[in-house]
Formats: sequence, C-alpha cells, structure tokens
Amino acid sequence: MRECPAQTSRDQTYSVQEAFRKMTVGASLYEPINVYKPIALDIGIVDGPFEYLTVGGVRLPLPFTTRMTVVRLSNDDLFLHSPIKFDEALASELQRIGTIRHLVSPNQFHYAHIGEWSKAFPNAITWASPRVRQRARARRIDVTFARDLDPNPPAEWRQDIDQTLFPGGYFKEFVFFHKASKSLILTDAIINIELSKMPEPWRTATKLTGMYHPRGQIFFGMRLPLLLQRRKAKAAFAKIHSWQPERVLLSHGRCFESRGDEVIRRTRSTWPTTSER
Ligand SMILES: [Fe+2]
Repeated sequence: MRECPAQTSRDQTYSVQEAFRKMTVGASLYEPINVYKPIALDIGIVDGPFEYLTVGGVRLPLPFTTRMTVVRLSNDDLFLHSPIKFDEALASELQRIGTIRHLVSPNQFHYAHIGEWSKAFPNAITWASPRVRQRARARRIDVTFARDLDPNPPAEWRQDIDQTLFPGGYFKEFVFFHKASKSLILTDAIINIELSKMPEPWRTATKLTGMYHPRGQIFFGMRLPLLLQRRKAKAAFAKIHSWQPERVLLSHGRCFESRGDEVIRRTRSTWPTTSER
C-alpha cells in the first residue's frame, strides 16, 4: 500500500492562506472608498480600504473598515482625524477643499498612515495620542509626531473643534466635537458594525459583543476601564452631553446621522458606573 506523501510546508502555507481567504470572503466596504463624502458644511468623511488586525506580528484574517473624518477649519486648514491609507487622488481632492494641516492620531491604534501623509505634506502637523510613539516604534512604523494632544483643544482648532480625553485605560482616546455641524467624532469608543458587511465567523463574534448596528455599543475593551474610572468616565460623558451632538461619526461601522445625544445616553446607560447613581 502506498503511503500518503507528507504534507509539505508549501502545501501547509497554501492551506492556511486559503482558510484565511475564505474567512474574508463576503466582507464589504463602504464604497466608494478614498473619496470625500460631505456630511455638513466644512465636514466630511472618507471611507478607506480594508485593514487587518495584527497580533504578535501575525495578520489576522479579520477585515475591518476604517474611516477618516475631515474638518475644514475657519482658516481653511484641514483637520484629518485618523488618516486612512495615503492615496494620491484623495490627497489632490482634499487640497482642493483646504490646506492639509493637521494629521491626528486620536488613540494609539489609529496612527499607521500618518507617516505617509506627513511625507507627502511636510508642513502638516502630526498630533500624537498617549503611547502612540512607543507603539509605532515597537511596530517599526515610520512616523514622527510633532505635538501631543491634550484634553483641551489647541489654539490651532479651538474656534471650530472642542475635545476631551475619553477614559478607557489602555484604549483611551481623544474625542472631538465639530461645533458648527454639531458632530461628535469618535474612533473606537463606539463601534456599530453592520453585520451584513461581515463574513462568518466574524459576524457571530461581532454579534456576541453587542457592537453592531443599529444599537452600536461602547468598544468592549473599554468597558472594564470605564467601570474602574468612574469619576473620569462621568466627567467625559458630562462634557459630551454638554455638546448636545446631533450626529456621531465613527471609525468602524455605520455612523449615527441623527439624534447623537440619544446615542450617547443609550450607550452610557448600559454601564452602571457611568449612570447618575
Ligand atoms: Fe479602531
């Protein structure tokens, strides 16, 4: 009887790649990507290509969508929140809207493309979130941050945008509020994945976290830190409520186009720590 030939490492690599490919089939983007989509006067979003989570240097077969928010300030400077992968045509389109000036990393997980934009626009200011420099260094991402974000907005955009630090321990992020359009700009604080855009097994996994449309939730990694940082969480929610946001723009999943304040009230009420009690 003939023995089955031992599986070669090439075959194994192929089968792993094939398994990974199957796990990404069925994922869909917010098309069109890499084009500016106006939301209101002086503010718009740009949906980007898929990104993949990398853990310990291994890229997971979990495709997720990312989105950049662009605000045109009163002086025509552009504020790019969580810049997506650099794209030449997109950069030209944005230059027709204003001057690309601020490249903002709102948390340590959203920064990977700032270096690309900074190279193309050396006069733009790169803004760091807490720990982002260490993270970029550890992952050998080529980016230099010139300034640090602070709980108070800098003079550069104070007139148009307010901000605060949303606690969440390791996942803390700066959140922003565009005053004229009453838009709250979040990164990972609330995630609102559309299940129809996710392939299995990710669809079921997302469902288990509760972070899906239309009742998107606070990112699960932030929930315990919010419980442990009751005072800071309460202050951050109070500040966000004081803004009375009309819409909530997100980096992952579908944005909330209206009743932003209700969205915040609902997500807040889910967590006993952050209630009024
Ligand atoms: Fe994210």
